[in-house]
Amino acid sequence: MRADTALDRSDTGAVAAALAAAEATVLHGAVYAGQGPLHVGVDLGTAVVAVVVTDGAGAPVAGASQPATVVRDGVVVDFVGACELLGELVAQVEARLGQPLEAAAACYPPGVGAGEVEAVRHVVESAGLACAALVDEPTAANAVLGLWEGAVVDVGGGTTGIAVVHQGVVTRTLDEPTGGHHLDLVIAGGLGVSVEEAERRKTDPAWQPRLAPMVRPVLEKLGALVRQGLAGEDVPAVVLVGGTAALPGAGEVVGAWAGLPVTVPPAPLLVTPLGTARHGSPVARVAPETAKVR
Ligand SMILES: Nc1ncnc2c1ncn2[C@@H]1O[C@H](COP(=O)(O)OP(=O)(O)OP(=O)(O)O)[C@@H](O)[C@H]1O
Ligand SMILES: [Mg+2]
Repeated sequence: MRADTALDRSDTGAVAAALAAAEATVLHGAVYAGQGPLHVGVDLGTAVVAVVVTDGAGAPVAGASQPATVVRDGVVVDFVGACELLGELVAQVEARLGQPLEAAAACYPPGVGAGEVEAVRHVVESAGLACAALVDEPTAANAVLGLWEGAVVDVGGGTTGIAVVHQGVVTRTLDEPTGGHHLDLVIAGGLGVSVEEAERRKTDPAWQPRLAPMVRPVLEKLGALVRQGLAGEDVPAVVLVGGTAALPGAGEVVGAWAGLPVTVPPAPLLVTPLGTARHGSPVARVAPETAKVR
């Protein structure tokens, strides 16, 4: 029997709770005790670099993130800047937890070459962490969503990763060079403001209703690309993640043009970073009295 919505087989309450904790830790600096060994994830995004730490059960315990321009279209374009920023975020999270992080999993957009994936590994290692695993973004996202049949569409800052999931496994991935940055360009052109100001207004709930008609064609194009990308696949529904999915109404527009029901989880920005952490190898807890943070 086909599921009515993409998330029918997953525990949406648990997904929402994990994402709320991810938001509290990564965006607001909360620290939770959790249980069992730690797992660390690094997402070097086009718009945001994020570090997420979970406990043994995959629940977020700490994290940090910062907007950045060290990666473009999934490729590390400012290697030194990426290393410095990740080093700072790792130090920040280690200080919050009171222990070293030691090892992390990292994600990369589907469609980039082996050399680009290796660059991600080198950035992780430059922050003093062993790179425990490298996982493509939608596969990472599905570690949170637990999608059984459907597609994960990760609309980030510069790219949109699409992954087809059959029986819980990602069977095909594709990548489109469209994301939130393209919305910024349209807003900047339409309002005659800088791209930075466009980005600020786009994420401001007071501005969003006024900007919706302006960015709608970009989201429609994205929906059409999803439809094209999924042609010939037996996909009952789509889960939209990535920061751009947080734009009110984005799910409806993409869904209408993709011709598929679309679900947007709460805090879609953090689905991929959290899922990346769930791919990390266990890092033993250090007793507070012996903990040494660099
Ligand atoms: N509330 C919001 N409303 C609209 N857009 C948002 C919101 N929050 C974040 N964004 C946008 O989401 C994008 C960042 O999303 P995300 O962190 O998923 O991207 P990324 O992982 O850095 O990029 P990529 O996956 O393309 O490398 C930015 O373009 C940002 O403007
Ligand atoms: Mg991303």
